[in-house]
Amino acid sequence: MSGKNNYFITTPIYYVNDKPHIGHAYTTILADVLARFHRAAGDEVFFLTGLDEHGLKVQQAADNKGITPQQHCDEMAPRFTGLWEKLHIQYDDFIRTTEKRHESVVKDILKMVFEKGDIYFDEYTGEYCVGCERFYTEKELVDGKCPQHNRPLETITEKNYFFKMSQYQQLLINYINDNPNFIQPKHRRNEILGFLRQPLDDLCISRPKSRLNWGIELPFDKDYVTYVWFDALINYVTAPGFSTDSKSFNQWWPAIHLIGKDILMTHAVYWPTMLFSAGIPQPLTIFAHGWWLIGESKMSKSLGNVVNPLDLVDKYGVDPLRYYLMREMVLGQDASFTMESFIKRYNSDLANDFGNLFSRVSTLIAKNFENVIPEPGELTLEEIKVQKSAESVIEQVNELIKKMRINEAIEEILQFVRSINKYMELQAPWKLVKSDKSAAARVLYTASESLRISALLLHPVMPNRTEIILDALGAIGTKLKWGILKSGTILKKHASLFPRIKVEAPVVEKIKVTAQENVITYDEFEKVELKTALVLEVEKVEGANRLLKLQIEVGDEKRQIVAGVAEYYNLEELISKMIVIVTNLEPTTIRGIESNGMLLAAKKGKELSLIIIDSDNVESGTKIF
Ligand code: ME8
Ligand code: MG
Repeated sequence: MSGKNNYFITTPIYYVNDKPHIGHAYTTILADVLARFHRAAGDEVFFLTGLDEHGLKVQQAADNKGITPQQHCDEMAPRFTGLWEKLHIQYDDFIRTTEKRHESVVKDILKMVFEKGDIYFDEYTGEYCVGCERFYTEKELVDGKCPQHNRPLETITEKNYFFKMSQYQQLLINYINDNPNFIQPKHRRNEILGFLRQPLDDLCISRPKSRLNWGIELPFDKDYVTYVWFDALINYVTAPGFSTDSKSFNQWWPAIHLIGKDILMTHAVYWPTMLFSAGIPQPLTIFAHGWWLIGESKMSKSLGNVVNPLDLVDKYGVDPLRYYLMREMVLGQDASFTMESFIKRYNSDLANDFGNLFSRVSTLIAKNFENVIPEPGELTLEEIKVQKSAESVIEQVNELIKKMRINEAIEEILQFVRSINKYMELQAPWKLVKSDKSAAARVLYTASESLRISALLLHPVMPNRTEIILDALGAIGTKLKWGILKSGTILKKHASLFPRIKVEAPVVEKIKVTAQENVITYDEFEKVELKTALVLEVEKVEGANRLLKLQIEVGDEKRQIVAGVAEYYNLEELISKMIVIVTNLEPTTIRGIESNGMLLAAKKGKELSLIIIDSDNVESGTKIF
């Protein structure tokens, strides 16, 4: 990214009726990552998040707890800010809709719209969803139920104030058509354009205080409060200073709104028409990301399967969670969260690729260069290739971030990391030090510089652990440009950055443990694979009287096993015998010889007898039940 730009990015303001979950964490981390990329590129950034504190749900939640709505909000707010702190979210402003600054802007805008003649009073009967805090039209319902909450709606008849949303329908259609980047991704834009092909209703924007009093009072009728969405959406202009600080407002507005697809309609239809009426320019972009699913199912608190991101953070750290969420979701599409994919991603990308490069480079520099980053000396074609690919990655990542293709940007960086691991393997500096120390120095400098570039590029995603790398290299705050790393810098010590997550103990161990208790389940026994094996060759193991090395045939496969049967059988005697082995044991090494399977025998005291197949018609590789 080049040149200083103002970059204003927002998240939805979340409802305070429940504690934050991984969906909220996702959007907020996404905004944080984008904000950090832009800050790193030298842009002026304003990152806004906050809380939506009015409405029926909050009033009901407070009633249930026997406290005032404000008390409820004040109790809930720290849960969000606390989580954001824990997740290293660097927001610039945190807005709560119960704040004075917000109330006064909402009233200002209502007055403007009212005075313009865009608000009228009327009786209305409609289908209302308390979960969504909005009325639904017949055509939006699914099986007569709310499409978001899948529950019946309440039929409500009352006198209310209406915003002439319908009046701005054509203007909105034209605006969307003229501004291809206004609603993203493209399929969401088409969804909205499709919706706008039917006549747009006016928007009910008030609630009688008799039904709901937890809201902002209408400036033109003290018996009514503002509809929660008319209140909430305005946060986006309150925070940068609309009607209070025009210099600040003009600097930041228009914003990029990050939202989930659940609130596309309110952001891409209600909000733009409100802005048209109030004479405020449209947001730059409304970007609706997809849905995180837990495994296969939709995540919601009503389903009771909400993953608490805090649990993952405590177990694996903030950065791996941030990395996973950013790498795994293709922006705009749904993604599925599973522990399995989390561990896989962590172990392959972070432990194997990135973490490994760091520990390899620092170990080699410690061992061979007294822990000092060596001089690169004269570069060869190989290093020039590395430099070229570093420069191209920097370019690519910039482009992809501009297009909000974060998962692809991360993959680009990881591919670069993998290419450096390959370069290390090919150059083998651990061998070079013996024959050509300056060549080893050149390779290790190049790898260190590549590591610095990778850490800088990944910094917005993993601000914590990349900082440890940068600190070790003496490179915190350095430029994203090749050739900046200083030779002569003393490498700092550090613990392993991404220790491998150990996956569940292998089957074999499980069986051992339960076998001691003498009982295993049928399922456990089913996991042991027994097959017939034909003995092809037998050899003594040097220096081990009791061991024999056997070459065996298991169906199409040839294997080698080591067995402690030398005292009981002659070499020749064993050849051509059809024995029984366990085939799905992890290979082990016995006296430096690999053993790939275990044969079965009956043993008591000094007597041992192999289990041998008692028919010539059974082939090797036959399964045993
Ligand atoms: O709608 N996957 O607040 P809210 C991905 N107060 N993102 C998810 C998600 C999931 N499973 N679940 C929630 C509101 N989100 C209003 C917004 S804005 C002026 C007012 C994220 O607490 C996603 O960003 O229900 C979604 O849009 C938002 O949380 C909804 O949060
Ligand atoms: Mg919601």
